[in-house]
Amino acid sequence: MEQLLVALDVDTVAEARALADRLRGVVGGFKIGSRLFTSEGPALVEELASRGDRVFLDLKFHDIPNTVAGAITAATRLGVWMVNVHASGGRAMMRAARDAAHEEAARRSRPAPLVIAVTMLTSLDQEALTDIGLSASVAGQVERLAALTEAAGLAGVVASPQEIAIIRRRCGADFTIVTPGIRGAGDSKGDQSRTLSAADALAAGASYLVVGRPIIAASDPRAAAERIVAECRG
Ligand code: C5P
Repeated sequence: MEQLLVALDVDTVAEARALADRLRGVVGGFKIGSRLFTSEGPALVEELASRGDRVFLDLKFHDIPNTVAGAITAATRLGVWMVNVHASGGRAMMRAARDAAHEEAARRSRPAPLVIAVTMLTSLDQEALTDIGLSASVAGQVERLAALTEAAGLAGVVASPQEIAIIRRRCGADFTIVTPGIRGAGDSKGDQSRTLSAADALAAGASYLVVGRPIIAASDPRAAAERIVAECRG
């Protein structure tokens, strides 16, 4: 299923490769985040991308525009399909990210990666916003940053299940919304507090779902992924 992306949140290339090999054909792509990237580096990103897997490089860049542009250029060179930045890095940083992706992709005659933005980390609540000096509500801040992301020309945002509807209404049908926090009835929630089932998240307007532990920690990851696909189609 195109829309189902699996978070390869493991420590070694060997574990990640084994998971990708089991899941290929059932899922639509693999997310590589800071845990695996920091322990193992970019080799697996390049390996998966060069064999045709869609790789979402989830490193949430947040720096001055020139530095973020350099990181996005490097990610584009690795062949990633999707990559992200923090929307709070601002309009100029997001534009620099988008331009870098398009320029490097054009140099290599390949499609540019989708550059998306994290609006608010789902781990931040109202108190955490106040701590960093923001008086807006969480929902208000998410909507504001999603609109800024769209205005900066990015493809979309990462959003919690609760935020999908607001963003879809504000940013329209073509805006990409990538949603983690997916849990089925029998799944442990772990540290995710605001969750939706895969089918409900798609119905609410998500473009892609990111699922980690319900698949990668299952005794049979492929069967777990197939169950999610069946639930979405059912
Ligand atoms: O294991 P689980 O299904 O909770 O994994 C969700 C993945 O999505 C993790 O890689 C996590 O870092 C990521 N993520 C998230 N919430 C966000 C952004 C990313 O859970 N707001």
